[in-house]
Amino acid sequence: MPLPSQYSVVVPAAGIGERMKADCPKQYLHIAGKTIIEHTLTNLLEHSQVKHVIVVLDPNDNFFSELAIASHPSIKVVEGGQERCDSVLAGLNYLPDDEEWVLVHDAARPCLAKTDLTTLLQLAEQGSIGGILATPVRDTMKRAIDVKMNGQHVIKQTESREKLWHALTPQFFKLASLKKALNEASKQNANITDEASAIELLGEKVMLVEGRASNIKITQPEDLLLAEFYLTQKQAK
Ligand code: C5P
Repeated sequence: MPLPSQYSVVVPAAGIGERMKADCPKQYLHIAGKTIIEHTLTNLLEHSQVKHVIVVLDPNDNFFSELAIASHPSIKVVEGGQERCDSVLAGLNYLPDDEEWVLVHDAARPCLAKTDLTTLLQLAEQGSIGGILATPVRDTMKRAIDVKMNGQHVIKQTESREKLWHALTPQFFKLASLKKALNEASKQNANITDEASAIELLGEKVMLVEGRASNIKITQPEDLLLAEFYLTQKQAK
């Protein structure tokens, strides 16, 4: 049996996380005994199909170098940019082989399950342009009108949740396709909030790989407790 292929991961971690209202960027908050970014990187590095992790940091970041994981031999640090997509491109540009497939995973998602990552990686052998982990929308979806009433948002209409998915990370594409897509999106000034959006702009078909809803992105203070719960459950197994 040939050994399974190994891949590099770009981890954008150059954001401030304003919505968290914390004293430090959210990826440096502690939960379940470690910082969020250490959980995220440990999850990735423990997977047998991950060979390198490129961590993309704010040029003025003084936190990462203080962490023990910073000296891990499979971690390389590069400087990020203004927007998330600029940071991702900076990470991708560090990688030498355009024919390789690459993963992009948010630093703020510390609860990724190993089995979900394994399933996503199988896309490299399935003849698609690539894909993303995602979960189907379960709640009823409302669109709000443009103006607030008494300081509150107001419903304009109910949107069908049929065929709606939450886009998670990791997202997994061939390096050449992803670089081309992100450069093109940047030229068009398109609003890119994940890698798949850039590939979609090229008219390509991106696969949705159903993953666990526990793979949350820590955004607001209440997410910390939920992530702590998932991480302690995992540690207890
Ligand atoms: O802000 P948001 O939660 O959408 O950010 C998603 C990820 O992108 C985070 O891990 C954040 O650190 C990263 N990011 C980045 N460079 C930016 C903005 C966000 O690497 N300029």
